[in-house]
Order: sequence, then structure tokens, then C-alpha cells
Amino acid sequence: MLYPGHILHKRFVAFATTEVNNMARIGLFFASSTGNTRRIAKALKKRFDDDTMADALNVNKATPELFASYSHLILGTSTLGAGALPGLSTDCMGGGWEEFLPKIEHLDFSGKTIALFGLGDQAKYPDEFVDAMGLLYEFFKARNASFVGAWPADDYDFISSKALVDDEFVGLALDQENQKLLTDARLETWLKLIATEFELI
Ligand SMILES: Cc1cc2nc3c(=O)[nH]c(=O)nc-3n(C[C@H](O)[C@H](O)[C@H](O)COP(=O)(O)O)c2cc1C
Repeated sequence: MLYPGHILHKRFVAFATTEVNNMARIGLFFASSTGNTRRIAKALKKRFDDDTMADALNVNKATPELFASYSHLILGTSTLGAGALPGLSTDCMGGGWEEFLPKIEHLDFSGKTIALFGLGDQAKYPDEFVDAMGLLYEFFKARNASFVGAWPADDYDFISSKALVDDEFVGLALDQENQKLLTDARLETWLKLIATEFELI
């Protein structure tokens, strides 16, 4: 028999389910032009269940409230223009980090842990290799975030990068144009590197 309480109960369950979906421990956000960063983000998410990691979300669809709700964040970006963040000014359809960062510039990220990954092309852009990952690092560092997942720069051939701190990349650098075959192994090793902090194991 149907009664008002039953309907209410069903509504509550539907609401609660939505909440649980948003309650994954790790938020995964990216910006992308041709889809390389999106593909990496989706491949990352595939390795984890929904309680552990939220679905990869393009920042051009994210709200500051959702973004700020995670204690752990994995953030991906390509580098476009001449070492720029993806966004409308670099022909990134729908926008990207360029438009999203101003929406969260007033937030404080104390107590939050961030792991970055960045895509670039070291052969074509050796002077600005994965610069945008460095720009994200600077932005969140200035807002008190903690970082994990720094990555050695040894196996790359480039001249300079804003993503280098103490001769290491501030996050995982990937190059789908020149080193695509290394990507899977790099991802696996990097996930092990951030595993303890992100409680992936
Ligand atoms: C117009 C343009 C500018 C680029 N500028 C840079 C750059 O400054 N530094 C870099 O490392 N890669 C640069 N790249 C390479 C991209 O970052 C790389 O192709 C990446 O895989 C693209 O990922 P996405 O499809 O997710 O945007 C540029 C690519 C394009 C098309």
C-alpha cells in the first residue's frame, strides 16, 4: 500500500544517493582542449570505485562549492598557448582553468591535499613544457594547499618549465605526443607515490 510517508521515504533515499555520489573522498577535475587530459583523467578514475574517487569532471562544468567539498583533489591540465592554462583564450571550448580559478581565488585550501598531473609536448614546446601545471601549483600553494606526487624530471628532454621546483616536477608530467608509450607505467608509479596520502591502498 502506498502512503505519504512511503513517498517521502523514497524521495529521501533518492536525495541520499545523490549525496553519496558527491561524497567520494577524492575529487578529480581537469581542463582539456583536444581531449588528451580528459582521457587520462577518465583512465585514472577507472582504477577506483565511486566511494574513493568521483567521476572525472571538466572544470568548465564544476561549481566552487563542489570543488571545495573534497579534502583530496587530483587536478589535471594541459598547457596551451605559450605556456598558458587551458581556457577560452586558448580556444578551449567551454573554457577551462583560466575561467575557473577566478571563481575560487577567495578560497583557502588549508588542510587539503592536491596531486597534479600535466600534459605537454616537450619537442614542440621545450621552453614551456607543462608550464600550466606550474601555474596551478602556484595558485593553490598561495592558498595554503599541501601537495603530493612530485615527479623526477630525468626522463624528459626539454629546456625549461614553470612546473619545476628543486629540479622536480610539482606533479606527474605526461607527453602523449612524444612519450605515449611511457604513460601507463608513469601513471601506475605515480599512483603508488600518492597512494598513502590519498588512501588508495
Ligand atoms: C596551440 C597549442 C599550444 C601548446 N602549447 C604548449 C606549451 O606551451 N607547452 C607544452 O608543454 N605543450 C603545449 N602544447 C601541447 C599540449 O599541451 C598537448 O598536446 C596536450 O596533450 C594537449 O592536451 P589536451 O588535449 O587535453 O588539451 C600546445 C598545444 C597546442 C595545440
